Amino acid sequence: MKTRIIGTGSCLPANVVTNDDLSQIMDTSDEWISSRTGIRKRHLAKDETTASMSIEAARRAMENAGVTAEEIDLIIVGTVSADYITPACSCEVQAAIGAERAVAFDINAACSGFMFALHIANAYLQCGTYQTALIIGAETLSKIMDWSDRSTCVLFGDGAGAAVVRADEKAGFLAFDLGSDGVKGRVLSGVNRTNNNPLIQTPKELQYIHMDGQEVYKFAVTMVPASLHKVIEEAGLGVEDIDYFALHQANIRIIQSVAKRLKVAEDKFPISLDHCGNISAASVPILLDEMNQRGLLKPGMKIALSGFGGGLTWASAVLEW
Ligand code: UT7
Repeated sequence: MKTRIIGTGSCLPANVVTNDDLSQIMDTSDEWISSRTGIRKRHLAKDETTASMSIEAARRAMENAGVTAEEIDLIIVGTVSADYITPACSCEVQAAIGAERAVAFDINAACSGFMFALHIANAYLQCGTYQTALIIGAETLSKIMDWSDRSTCVLFGDGAGAAVVRADEKAGFLAFDLGSDGVKGRVLSGVNRTNNNPLIQTPKELQYIHMDGQEVYKFAVTMVPASLHKVIEEAGLGVEDIDYFALHQANIRIIQSVAKRLKVAEDKFPISLDHCGNISAASVPILLDEMNQRGLLKPGMKIALSGFGGGLTWASAVLEW
């Protein structure tokens, strides 16, 4: 038994912010951002929330898959920027779409969140606990960015992507590779609330995402090719058998470096970061939905996926579409 993606959907905020727009409010330029990262614009939420984008992406994925809310028995959202500590974003999705039978919970594996959630769903579906799952990666990163830190805030965007997955006899996921390295975790961190109870008074400083970009870059360009090699081999394939590589969209230079290390042409690496920026857990499912909408994904194709980032975490998979 395999786990197969049978539908995808995504949702981006209406408000588009170009690099030139950012250069009006901080000391940056389109030249710096686009040449260092490949990012030209991003969508930043005004009225949208992590839950509202998740719900819209979920509805689109269910429509694409042709499944009803009654059929969904598992909902997992990967996010670091849920609207509430509780209820979980996944529970808000469950309520909005009316998936009354579903078990719903969120996970935090930062930019690998969607991939980790897929792996959890894969395990549940393989052992027959559940049959149909809705897996979402969703972020409103603009609310946890330090907008005075130009080296980080220009990189990120907001949005949500979703996939409906179902147990299938023939096609589906062939292999997964997941990993974590908590020792290096502080190179990409975002402190939640500080303790400010009546017994311990700590300064009420607002905390935002902080990233040592170069350390994360070095981690990505070594770990992602290694993980992809491992998962492709585990799937019984060679790098040349993979039709597309759908990678977390952090930086075009990371993607080019991975392509070079794998000795694969760059046109096998579809891109959404030019118009979305880095949307952490939402990057991979949004890219996958764009590929699906563009008709790039054909039955029998072999697709490699890889997410990587905060934790540090990484997760790769190979699937037959
Ligand atoms: O999703 C999680 C995964 N995250 C990632 O994968 C991020 C990985 N890291 C990166 O993509 C890159 O390290 C960055 C894009 C974050 C930074 O690129 P870089 O080539 O490593 O630049 P840098 O940090 O070394 O900065 C170079 C210069 C500095 O100026 P000086 O010290 O050389 O004078 C920065 O102050 O660029 C300056 N700078 C900027 N200039 C204009 C930093 N940010 C900006 C900016 N606009 N937004």
